Amino acid sequence: MPANRSGEPLGEWHTSSWRSRPAAQQPDWPDAAALKDAEATLAALPPLVIASEARRLTSSLAAVSRGEAFLLQAGDCAESFREFSADTIRDKLKVVLQMAVTLTYAAGVPVVKVGRIAGQFAKPRTSPVERVDGVELEAFRGHMVNDEAFDPVARRPDASRLVAAYHQAAATLNLLRAFTKGGFADLSLVHRWNQEFVASSAEGRRYEQIATEIDRALRFMAACGIDLVAEEGLHETDFWTSHEALILHYEEALTRRDSLSGDWVDTSAHFLWVGERTRQLDGAHVEFLSGVINPVGVKLGPSATRDEVLALCERLDPGRSPGRLTLITRIGKGKVADTLPPLIEAVRDAGHPVVWVSDPMHGNTFTSENGHKTRRFEDIVAELQEWFAVHRAMGTWPGGVHVELTGDDVTECLGGAEAVVEDDLDQRYTTMCDPRLNARQSLDLAFDVAELLRS
Ligand code: PEP
Ligand code: CO
Repeated sequence: MPANRSGEPLGEWHTSSWRSRPAAQQPDWPDAAALKDAEATLAALPPLVIASEARRLTSSLAAVSRGEAFLLQAGDCAESFREFSADTIRDKLKVVLQMAVTLTYAAGVPVVKVGRIAGQFAKPRTSPVERVDGVELEAFRGHMVNDEAFDPVARRPDASRLVAAYHQAAATLNLLRAFTKGGFADLSLVHRWNQEFVASSAEGRRYEQIATEIDRALRFMAACGIDLVAEEGLHETDFWTSHEALILHYEEALTRRDSLSGDWVDTSAHFLWVGERTRQLDGAHVEFLSGVINPVGVKLGPSATRDEVLALCERLDPGRSPGRLTLITRIGKGKVADTLPPLIEAVRDAGHPVVWVSDPMHGNTFTSENGHKTRRFEDIVAELQEWFAVHRAMGTWPGGVHVELTGDDVTECLGGAEAVVEDDLDQRYTTMCDPRLNARQSLDLAFDVAELLRS
């Protein structure tokens, strides 16, 4: 019988079975030996996450699918090898904790926190090449593959970057675990998550009110004789990692068999998703994710059809397991009311207990007059309003939001309560790929989402 690389019969899933399918968005690695070396190195390194964590996240997402919790998935569009420090990790975590506490307090739902972090190093591109002044080079595909400088050497895919990405992911995850389990996420520190440039803004003051009310509630509970020290949930939190499973050599090398259950786990992150450009039913990415037990997501753009979505559900969640599959729609404002209902209806009728999430960023990107790729805060909110309205009308649970943000005071997206205008974009536009919400805009969005959840 014909066999795959690992000696398993062809047609059966294995960590390398994706290799016999068309794999979109993969770099053309110029040095085959270097790629083999990087894969061997990664395969020998310790896992970043373990099976029991992936299962715990699945059960938290199962609660989301039942309407008992809300998912906040947020972080960089693309993590950078250069902008990598304790401060950037801490500030991103601060924003997510602020958003989560705002949602929990204002809407009364537990929030499952998942970062686009510790592995979000690769980007799908609309064109495989970039042309500037008549010069054509390979597109920048994220620091896991090449460098963004417009230079032939920088743009050459370099497989040693796969290993560098692993080490940065490991260091990032280590600090996240320390912060979230070691006291930084303690609810008594809610004021400390409010960064200076946020605290002085209208959103920051609104947040301070919530923080003060939380203090008061904690004092009240203590006065009633509740032992707050013993309440673990007040002192630490779960913060899960996720990224787009794009570069399959990296994902395969980090996929391990759980010794207890025999299940395959992609140990590069807790949650993995397949993007709008790589979700082909018979493609390599869907094949790969179909065989790992991690909770997985699929991005769905405005052209996704009922049949495609149903087939993806059947392929990625044949067992109809709550928490296994998250559908992340990124449709664009003005189109949600027409596009989303048939998809929800089809999935519901087929009995797939998916988590529905809105990514209100990727369908609302445009280029400003001064040449910056940007998004309007009001368009982002508009897509969310339409999306919540559809779920309300159909009686389904609006399970979560997926956003690109940073803890820094950047000027990449337009608008917000302290509005960024087109002329500001030049000031602090530091993203390597898509425009991100800054910490103030992120907090602003959390208040809007909390209101939508409440109504
Ligand atoms: C992304 O999430 O950064 C991305 C590229 O999204 P999509 O696949 O939805 O375009
Ligand atoms: Co993006």
